[in-house]
Amino acid sequence: MMINLNEEITLDDHIKLENEYLFSTPQKVLLTGATGFLGAYMLYDLLNYTTSHIYCLLRADSESLALQRLFDNWNAYMLDHEEKEKRITPVLGDLSKSNLGIEKVLYEQLSKEIDSIYHLAASVSFAPDYQKLKAINVVGIQEIIKLAALNKPKLLHFVSTYAVFNTKFYNGSEIIFEKDLEGSSEGIKKGYGQSKWVAENICYLARRRGIPITIYRPGIISADQRKGIYNPSCIMNLMILSVITMGYAQAIDFKLHFTPVDYCSRAIALLAQKQSSVNKNFHLVNTPISWQQLLHWLAKKGHSIKQIEPNEWYQRLYELIKKNSMFYPLYFLVAMKNDQNSWSKANVVTSSFDDGNVKMRLKEFELSCPALDDALLDTYYAYWLKKKVIEPSLIKRI
Ligand SMILES: NC(=O)c1ccc[n+]([C@@H]2O[C@H](COP(=O)([O-])OP(=O)(O)OC[C@H]3O[C@@H](n4cnc5c(N)ncnc54)[C@H](OP(=O)(O)O)[C@@H]3O)[C@@H](O)[C@H]2O)c1
Repeated sequence: MMINLNEEITLDDHIKLENEYLFSTPQKVLLTGATGFLGAYMLYDLLNYTTSHIYCLLRADSESLALQRLFDNWNAYMLDHEEKEKRITPVLGDLSKSNLGIEKVLYEQLSKEIDSIYHLAASVSFAPDYQKLKAINVVGIQEIIKLAALNKPKLLHFVSTYAVFNTKFYNGSEIIFEKDLEGSSEGIKKGYGQSKWVAENICYLARRRGIPITIYRPGIISADQRKGIYNPSCIMNLMILSVITMGYAQAIDFKLHFTPVDYCSRAIALLAQKQSSVNKNFHLVNTPISWQQLLHWLAKKGHSIKQIEPNEWYQRLYELIKKNSMFYPLYFLVAMKNDQNSWSKANVVTSSFDDGNVKMRLKEFELSCPALDDALLDTYYAYWLKKKVIEPSLIKRI
């Protein structure tokens, strides 16, 4: 069924600010998505770079289980902080429910005490269609905006994605600037991109009602720069590992915009502190590396990769997925039979992204998105070896 995404851009009329928002250093913030990949680092950097107390919206049956989930996630990414007990409070809830599923008295209290909201939670999955993602990615932002406006006006930090630019309007754009989205949604094929496109547009509606919202658009969130710890469900990570495992790659070229997770969280934590960031959009992306450059680097690591036609590559990928369940998240690529090569022509892999707004504000912190150079790729590679996700026999020492 075709959905008119423009009709999905709605916000209840009663959602509006009762008082004007005044910028201040936040004492109390709400973070969503803290059990996720970016969320783990965001929580860590909010502890590092702010003095705020952090309320984390978490799905769990009890507060102790919620904290357990949070810290298990931190353990997976080897993160820890001495102030974690003192400055983190779990809040049981669910984005897809009314009032975020938060108990009534606590919801009212948070609405009066919270200064800012960092909204990272989303269903980050490329397989389902829009309708399946709507409850979390669209209703979720509507509920978050409702809380932002209720009682005390709160500054909302919304993590969007560069995938919102995969529309016809941006086809052929050499460079995409940090402006509000223009044009219609025509051209966005995946439910995930569609849901984030609608969510961003709902943010613009809220801005027009005076609700302050800062929007961050990362590229592919890649492993951290220090240890190379990656998100096991990252599609691009699995794609590179599948190429190494099969010894075959598609004979195509496209741009890869990576955003190392620790840069992403630190950039958000620092940008959020600036009054000049309010109501701005930020592109958190690096200078892209090309697919062919990546294959060249793999060759230098001793992998002999043969480049083949995409159709043959997808067939080989299907065989690999059947043998090794680690690659199952890539199945959606195989399933897109009629459309399988379109992603390599998508705007996010053909255009470049300007990040002038980010550069201007992060200069004083000497922070910029690191290039995916050989040194960073080597860090990522060392961690793959440590996790034994590359068969040693595949590496020909040269
Ligand atoms: N990963 C990327 O490459 C990438 C690129 C650009 C933008 N982004 C954006 O960055 C953000 C974080 O992405 P990520 O990769 O870190 O995601 P992730 O690892 O999949 O984490 C998603 C988080 O959202 C939470 N969540 C999902 N449904 C929820 C619900 N109904 N109620 C409350 N929480 C819910 C999850 O909680 P549970 O643990 O309870 O499931 C988890 O903490 C997302 O907004 C995404 O769109 C990601």
